[in-house]
Amino acid sequence: MKGSQPGGSLRKPKWDMATLQKFEKNFYKEHPNVLNRSPMEVQQFHAEHQITINGKGAPTPIFTFEEGCFPDYVMAQIRRNSWKAPTPIQSQAWPIALQGKNLVGVAQTGSGKTLGFILPAIVHVNHQPYLERGDGPIVLVLTPTRELAQQILEVSNEFGRTSQLKSACVYGGAPKGPQLRDLERGAEICIATPGRLIDFLEAGKTTLRRTTYLVLDEADRMLDMGFEPQIRKILEQIRPDRQTLMWSATWPKEVRRLAEEFLNDYIQVNTGAMQLTANHSILQIIDVCMEHEKEEKLVKLLNEIMQEKQNKTIIFVETKRKADDITRRMKRDGWPVLSIHGDKSQQERDWALNDFRNGRNPILVATDVASRGLDVDDIKFVINFDYPNCSEDYVHRIGRTGRAGNTGTAYTFFTPNNAKQAPDLCNVLKEAKQVISPKLQQLEESSRGMRGGRQRWGGRGGGIGGRFDRSSGNGRFNDRSGGGSKFSGSNGGGFKSQSNFSNGSSGGFKSNGFSNGHGGQTNGNAGGFKSNWSQGGVTAASLSSIPPPSRF
Ligand SMILES: Nc1ncnc2c1ncn2[C@@H]1O[C@H](COP(=O)(O)OP(=O)(O)OP(=O)(O)O)[C@@H](O)[C@H]1O
Ligand SMILES: [Mg+2]
Repeated sequence: MKGSQPGGSLRKPKWDMATLQKFEKNFYKEHPNVLNRSPMEVQQFHAEHQITINGKGAPTPIFTFEEGCFPDYVMAQIRRNSWKAPTPIQSQAWPIALQGKNLVGVAQTGSGKTLGFILPAIVHVNHQPYLERGDGPIVLVLTPTRELAQQILEVSNEFGRTSQLKSACVYGGAPKGPQLRDLERGAEICIATPGRLIDFLEAGKTTLRRTTYLVLDEADRMLDMGFEPQIRKILEQIRPDRQTLMWSATWPKEVRRLAEEFLNDYIQVNTGAMQLTANHSILQIIDVCMEHEKEEKLVKLLNEIMQEKQNKTIIFVETKRKADDITRRMKRDGWPVLSIHGDKSQQERDWALNDFRNGRNPILVATDVASRGLDVDDIKFVINFDYPNCSEDYVHRIGRTGRAGNTGTAYTFFTPNNAKQAPDLCNVLKEAKQVISPKLQQLEESSRGMRGGRQRWGGRGGGIGGRFDRSSGNGRFNDRSGGGSKFSGSNGGGFKSQSNFSNGSSGGFKSNGFSNGHGGQTNGNAGGFKSNWSQGGVTAASLSSIPPPSRF
């Protein structure tokens, strides 16, 4: 029977370290190159990739896959991907994880953190005794969303296959039977969202007594108020001498103490600046505007984007209701759009994400349920129709583009109502050497002194999924006035008037030339798009080339 609290009927096992069966967690063999690496070389590598290490005894980073001394079954799969080298976080985190140490890995979105924990997990499993009937998983990966769990399953299957490992994915909204069958047939690796896992634990369908390698992906999200009680319940079920790894692109101070409670001794690796950092391959454009202007601006933007060859775009909105409204109206006007949010059935969610992944529907409207971890090939544009509740979410949302060395562009509508978030946002922009418009600067200045905008870590409670469940009605998108839809592609009025994405200073945006500020490197947008914007907006001529809605 379920208690009133998540996992209320689960009892914390009494761990007697004297009688617990010992297990091995250090499998690291240093490659001769690594052994001979001079402190100077290491220092240079750390400086070049802005790697900061906290904690004692961090091993020397590896520079190549070979230096990781991974077993053949792992190397075979790495070779198949023909990647050049480990990413910086992998270079430093793999040796630590392979040594069996606890770790916090903080690195930019799209920097390969998933393999950062999956490869050592596979090595870990391969060194443990075989599972016996009734044993639960050896590796447990916890994630905040179902789609992320499924995505990690793919990676785990891809790299675990060569050593015959079995993985199971356990998440809500889908039938329990097949998930249980996967667990029962002896899955060494389990990737789970907390709610469904707790259901299975409470029902005695699985156990975590064999679990010795634990991962919290998107750990700051997992430790925030929405998930913390469930995480606590689950972690109590795992032996205390397990290896624990936490990963995210953001590590707000509000979760650090709690994280330490679950980590004991650990090493933290950060790549990039120690403050909140966005991926530098993303061009960030902030449009300070009024709420009522957003729709028209969105249409204008999408008209431009859809002329690009690579036009995969994700649009983030604040509420599920708004996601539905915008999607419905865009569809009516012929846009190739689907949406994903927490009120949709899992089948619909999977279908929307699949069609987005394979390009059948290049536009996805989403709530923050899609802001973390999702690795969709070739997303070129992120549009924040609504600014998120905190700047960590901003960093994760825009991080859906510009992954694995690619570039991308993020457009953000920012209204005076968001002013209290302006200082955090400006810091993120400054760190990434992005243009800060005078309008945004003004909002930043006006909001100084009235801070306290970090609602997310404040008093808001609300159980699993709570933060995706707000449905404040925004009347604007609910009234079905008979007038012409703003999502119609033929909305000519006002397009020519001004560059809505101009940074406000005359020509500033133009002169920036879409450079992302790093050595003058442009973000790789096609020239047409670039020149259109720098000319100050969409022209009637460019509108005439928009494909008719029927095409979609
Ligand atoms: N060494 C590598 N070289 C090139 N590409 C890599 C490498 N390792 C992983 N990748 C690819 O990089 C992409 C992004 O990886 P991943 O999803 O793990 O990023 P992440 O750091 O977890 O991002 P997020 O913070 O958004 O969750 C994936 O498509 C993955 O296959
Ligand atoms: Mg990830």
